[in-house]
Amino acid sequence: MLAIIGASGKLGYATLSALLSLHLLPAEQVVCTTSSDSGATTLQILNQQGFHIRRADWDSDQATWERALEGCDRLFLISSSRIEKDFGDAAPGKGREADHFKALEAARKIGVQHVYYSSLAFANPSKSRVMKAHERTEEWLQASGMAHTIIREGLYNESWPLYLGHYNVPDDERTEVPVAGDSKISWTSIPDLGLANATILSSPSSEWAGKTVYLSQKQAHNLSEVAAMVSKGRGIEIKVKVVPREEHERYYVQERNMSEPMVSWWSKTYDALEDNECEIDDLTLEDLLARRGVKPKPLEETVAEMLKC
Ligand SMILES: *[C@@H]1O[C@H](CO)[C@@H](O)[C@H](O)[C@H]1NC(C)=O
Ligand SMILES: *[C@@H]1O[C@H](CO)[C@@H](O)[C@H](O)[C@H]1NC(C)=O
Ligand SMILES: *[C@@H]1O[C@H](CO)[C@@H](O)[C@H](O)[C@H]1NC(C)=O
Ligand SMILES: *[C@@H]1O[C@H](CO)[C@@H](O)[C@H](O)[C@H]1NC(C)=O
Repeated sequence: MLAIIGASGKLGYATLSALLSLHLLPAEQVVCTTSSDSGATTLQILNQQGFHIRRADWDSDQATWERALEGCDRLFLISSSRIEKDFGDAAPGKGREADHFKALEAARKIGVQHVYYSSLAFANPSKSRVMKAHERTEEWLQASGMAHTIIREGLYNESWPLYLGHYNVPDDERTEVPVAGDSKISWTSIPDLGLANATILSSPSSEWAGKTVYLSQKQAHNLSEVAAMVSKGRGIEIKVKVVPREEHERYYVQERNMSEPMVSWWSKTYDALEDNECEIDDLTLEDLLARRGVKPKPLEETVAEMLKC
């Protein structure tokens, strides 16, 4: 039986939908954990086919996690979204990885055989602080003795506003957007990731055990190019301005009223971009999609659709 932790979130949901709609796994072989009533409601909508829904959240104790994962031999772990745990350079074991470790310890205890972990498509080690919890979780898995597959997910289609100076979709008033670095990023659409993930999860465990793969679209675009797509969508010209990281932090905290812990956690991501960490040369995603006759969705389409809403 396969457990999915985080199935009611956007990404887990895309994977679960692909698994069920393509009949890649029988529904009764899937357990989804959820942390909230609204998550349970979201899952229920998809649940004519009868997968199992169990409650556990990141604050639950290990015994609760053990009960939630009971009977499962494989686990798909989608990372915790509690980013505030990472703020202020969280010490090892104190950031979001603490959430993951609890679920993983429970999984190991009840005899889960194979963990698929959803990481992010930066280099490892990365200069971005966003990656710390992922790096620590990957290390835990490597030391755990459990079979595991690390899926470094391409930066999601709809996350471009975050990178493009926390752009306010659809009607940000700026024509010049300060960022602390720019380089190519292999943007990848969420439905494409969901389908690729589902294909991995429904393959024999031995096909993917011990592997680290990137799921990224081959076509990459830098932030200047994304700004050009936004310009086209809005009919006004928008440019990016690369500024030093300190200036970036000052601007977003003082002039855009964003929280300082969030901005300083985020800003080193641009150092990672300057090192070209997010231009990924890995054909796994496109190969997995091609098996199902699907072509990756271009970022231009994503940007245009998001500006229309
Ligand atoms: C794909 O799987 C990873 C976990 O390996 C998860 O983090 C990610 O959210 C999934 N993506 C989608 C679109 O379901
Ligand atoms: C972004 O990409 C365009 C098109 O490839 C290129 O002309 C431009 O120099 C790039 N800008 C940066 C900052 O990398
Ligand atoms: C930030 O806050 C100040 C003072 O409350 C306000 O005048 C300004 O418009 C705000 N700026 C943004 C971008 O929200
Ligand atoms: C981005 O991903 C979301 C979540 O799965 C999906 O609903 C949406 O259609 C995608 N957006 C675009 C514009 O591709």
